[in-house]
Parts: sequence; C-alpha cells; structure tokens
Amino acid sequence: MANNLLKGKRGIIFGALNDMSIAWQVALKAHEEGAEFVLTNAPIAMRMGAINELAEKTNSLVIPADATSLEDLENLFSKAMEHLGGKIDFVLHSIGMSPNVRKGKHYTDIDYKFYNQTLDISAGSLHKTLATAHKMDALNEWGSVVALTYIAAQRIFPDYNDMADAKSLLESITRSFGYHYGIKKKVRVNTISQSPTVTTAGQGIKGFDEFINFSDQMSPLGNASAEACADYCVAMFSDLTRYVTMQNLFHDGGFSNTGVTQPVIEKFGNIE
Ligand code: NAI
Repeated sequence: MANNLLKGKRGIIFGALNDMSIAWQVALKAHEEGAEFVLTNAPIAMRMGAINELAEKTNSLVIPADATSLEDLENLFSKAMEHLGGKIDFVLHSIGMSPNVRKGKHYTDIDYKFYNQTLDISAGSLHKTLATAHKMDALNEWGSVVALTYIAAQRIFPDYNDMADAKSLLESITRSFGYHYGIKKKVRVNTISQSPTVTTAGQGIKGFDEFINFSDQMSPLGNASAEACADYCVAMFSDLTRYVTMQNLFHDGGFSNTGVTQPVIEKFGNIE
C-alpha cells in the first residue's frame, strides 16, 4: 500500500543487478511511494544485469558508475541532479563484492590485492560517494543516505571472510561521515543490517543455504525478506525518521538479540 512517503524526493539507487537484488526491491518501493530517482551500477554489471527492465518499470534513468572511481561518482551526481532537476534527497548504497570470497581464499590466507579491492568496493565506495556529494553540495538538507550491512561486522561468521572487515569499516564510515555531514547540512547517514537474503552476492558465501535456514530459526520473527528491507529503506528515506543518524539499524527479525531459540536447541537433543 503506497502512502506517497517519498513524494517530491529525488534519489540515487546503487546496486540493482537483477530482481533478486535488495536494491531492485528498494527501487520498486521508492517508485510506489512517489520518488523520482536515477539507477546506477558498475559498467560491467550493466552487461550482466537486467537494470534496463527496472528503469522502464520505475521510469528512471540509468547512469553507469564504478563506485570506487571519484570521476565516475562526480559524473553520476552531476548528471543525476541535471536529470532530476535539483539536489538529491536520498541515496541507497547497496554494494558488496569480495574477490577473496569469489576465489575461495581462506581468511587466514587472503590475497592482499584482493583484500584492498574488497575494502574499496564494499566500504571505501561509501566514503567516496559521501565525499563527492559533500564537495559538490549535491544533497539537500535532511537528506538520507542508507548503506546495507551485515552482523558479521560485530560477530564472527567464518565463511563471510574479509567481507566482515569491509562491513566493520562501512559502519565506521557511516558514524564518522554522519557526524560531519550532520553538522554541515543535517544530512543523515545510517546502515541497515539485514538478515541473510537470497541474492547474487549472498549466494557467493560458502554454505549460504544452510546458513540462511539457521538464521531463520534463530530469529523470533524469521529472516527479513528483501521486500521488507525495502520498506525499511523507504522509511529511512522519508521525513518520518529525520532524527535518526549515525546508527547501525538491525533489520533481522530479532536475530541480533537472540542467544538461542527452542527449534535450534531441539536439534541438539540427541547428541551423546
Ligand atoms: P547483489 O549482488 O544483487 O548486489 C550487489 C551489487 O554491488 C551488484 O549490483 C553489483 O553490481 C554491485 N557492485 C559491485 N561492484 C561494484 C562497483 N565497483 N561499483 C558499483 N557497484 C558495484 O546482492 P545484494 O545481496 O542485493 O547486496 C546488496 C548489499 O546488501 C550489499 O552491500 C550486501 O553486502 C548487503 N547485504 C546482503 C545480504 C544478503 O544476504 N544478500 C545480507 C546483508 C547485507
């Protein structure tokens, strides 16, 4: 049910690769809620993904940008402002990639060139996005920037590998930039820490299918879906959450505050 929560707002949505992507769902919901936005992804992802289909559905323009390139980001913000007719009100950072995970490198034996790429793509890109917007004064006052993260930033999930380090950095950038941008322009910056979700990035993690079931049973409300995450993002972009900033917001059905649940403990009943 749409409530025009984002009517009159202009946005930039990073990271919609295909219809499983969390960013894809955010774009659909933001459109339903009356927002106008630009879609962006890495030039290479344009060829693999179905972003043009989403652009058609949401009546939006696609502007390719590698989120690790300052030049691409500057071009993105200036073209987006030109196309949308003014400064930007919301940004979704929905970007994650680890070459170490992709190549099956163990955390104790990672390739450091890959490691730098993981940190740059999955976390540094948020700093670069915010720094570009800040320099260009591209965001409106009370604008809202949301990046997606995972609880492996706080606790060890062994197969999440170096993405855990990237997510810790992402959450730290959120706090630090949230402070500076808040003081300067009342722009808010938050992360949403989402349940494991079946997407292209998610499925790259070893043992993901078993893990997603475990997480579901460890969450009093069950795993949160991509659609539900999109609803939360829309709430964070709206004026109903104006004083929320510099936070890591768990959207995980209660997983983060659960020690154990009955269905999980019962699985250990027959162990000698
Ligand atoms: P996805 O694979 O659909 O999205 C990842 C996106 O990052 C893709 O669109 C990809 O093209 C983009 N990307 C990679 N390198 C890029 C670059 N250099 N420049 C610009 N874009 C680039 O997967 P998903 O799951 O929707 O991921 C979105 C975010 O949600 C990521 O930050 C991920 O870590 C986070 N997240 C995902 C969870 C899951 O279980 N799927 C759980 C918690 C957080």
